[in-house]
Amino acid sequence: MTTTQASAATAELSFPRGFLWGSATAAYQVEGAAAEGGRTPSIWDTFSHTPGKIVNGDTGDVADDHYHRYRDDVALMARLGLTSYRFSVSWPRITPQVTADGLGPVNPEGLAFYSALVDELIAAGITPSVTLYHWDLPQALEDAGGWTSRRTAELFGEYAEIVAAALGDRVPLFITLNEPWCSAYLGYASGVHAPGRTDDAAALSAVHHLNLAHGLATAAVRRAAPAARVALTLNLAWVVPETDSALDADAAWRVDGLQNRVFLDPVLHGHYPADVLADTAHVTDWSFVEAGDLEIIRAPLDVLGVNYYTPTQVRHWTRERPKENADGHGDTRASPWIACDDVEFPIQHGPKTDMGWSIDARGMTEVLLRVAREAPGLEIMVTESGAAFPDVVGADGRVADPDRVEYLRMHLAAVHRAVAAGAPVSGYYVWSLLDNFEWAWGYGKRFGIVHVDYDTQVRTLKNSALFYADVIRRNTVRV
Ligand code: FCB
Repeated sequence: MTTTQASAATAELSFPRGFLWGSATAAYQVEGAAAEGGRTPSIWDTFSHTPGKIVNGDTGDVADDHYHRYRDDVALMARLGLTSYRFSVSWPRITPQVTADGLGPVNPEGLAFYSALVDELIAAGITPSVTLYHWDLPQALEDAGGWTSRRTAELFGEYAEIVAAALGDRVPLFITLNEPWCSAYLGYASGVHAPGRTDDAAALSAVHHLNLAHGLATAAVRRAAPAARVALTLNLAWVVPETDSALDADAAWRVDGLQNRVFLDPVLHGHYPADVLADTAHVTDWSFVEAGDLEIIRAPLDVLGVNYYTPTQVRHWTRERPKENADGHGDTRASPWIACDDVEFPIQHGPKTDMGWSIDARGMTEVLLRVAREAPGLEIMVTESGAAFPDVVGADGRVADPDRVEYLRMHLAAVHRAVAAGAPVSGYYVWSLLDNFEWAWGYGKRFGIVHVDYDTQVRTLKNSALFYADVIRRNTVRV
């Protein structure tokens, strides 16, 4: 039940009873201990150790040392009153000897780490949500083709079954993939993410094999952990054409196809969007889609995870002036936007985060309502939402981050608007619990509600953590 009580100065927006309040992290971004516990390299180890790929030459070797400090970190979560924690499992900890020939032996130390983390969470009254893949593909599989190979999808299904069998007695929700858009296009087309390839045909093949991997993992989790629920997390874009001209509308439709429909359509409806297939026909014939694949991919989902950070403004590029590429995904020569030569992402004015991402919470409401319309009745969770700002610990030992507090307040209000309009949203995970390794940006971008001093590993609650704790305690956001 949702109630809205307006007063002169503030409104109290209450969330449904039982709403999950969480924070999210990802293995490579927080764990560190890259060479411990029997772990072997992932594509992010290789990529981050390649000169020039990461700002400041940062790597995830140590990160937040969460691998050793997870007990303290869970205690922090408990102090904030979090009711859920979304973390990811690092595949190269679970089957470190995997090659295209097979998974190889399961590494008991890897499973033991995640099992202990799950136990610690449960003892603290925090519900674990497990992401099976947050971008750290075992390097040996990349060497055999990575996500351009069907074999990677098959092996991912087998790996998912192992994790679900080990944790499924205690973990109620498994998220197969985090943001396959990033894995495919940033990893294989623009190359700003691992494995750093710039090959459009490879990226589209990766799109399909990631979708297939999701389908195979869904079936695997159902077999190994019948009581658990299965989700997929997508970074859906709120695509806004600059004008209502037909050319801008066409630009928006193509970007929508590549970012939203190429994932939503197969998963929800069992087909690829015809316009995307046609628009990319000069890049690939999509012959990697085999008979039966779409049936596997459209296996019913229990939850759709939505990550939302920033709107996606587009316009038709007239070629009369230099192209603007303010899509928020790095200023690269290779574009992640396949077959979008005449589309540009105009530079935005107005408030931005430290990533340069425009702040507009309307998109949060819009993407949630879109899912509610396209998949009536499907439960939705906001699996990531948050902002980077250049925080510092003040002389008083506190971290004042008013911009993040406002960002969270506005985006929570936007989630509430979607709920009030009937979208079945059951939870919200702030990105992130801790400042961490922000991929190609390294440690320079701070997304945490908890500040991390990377020299000492000291954690300091930011004011946004205190704000979030208050929201959780009241199950209400005040705007
Ligand atoms: C998302 C990623 C997450 C983090 C945030 C800022 O795309 O899933 O790991 O990098 O962006």
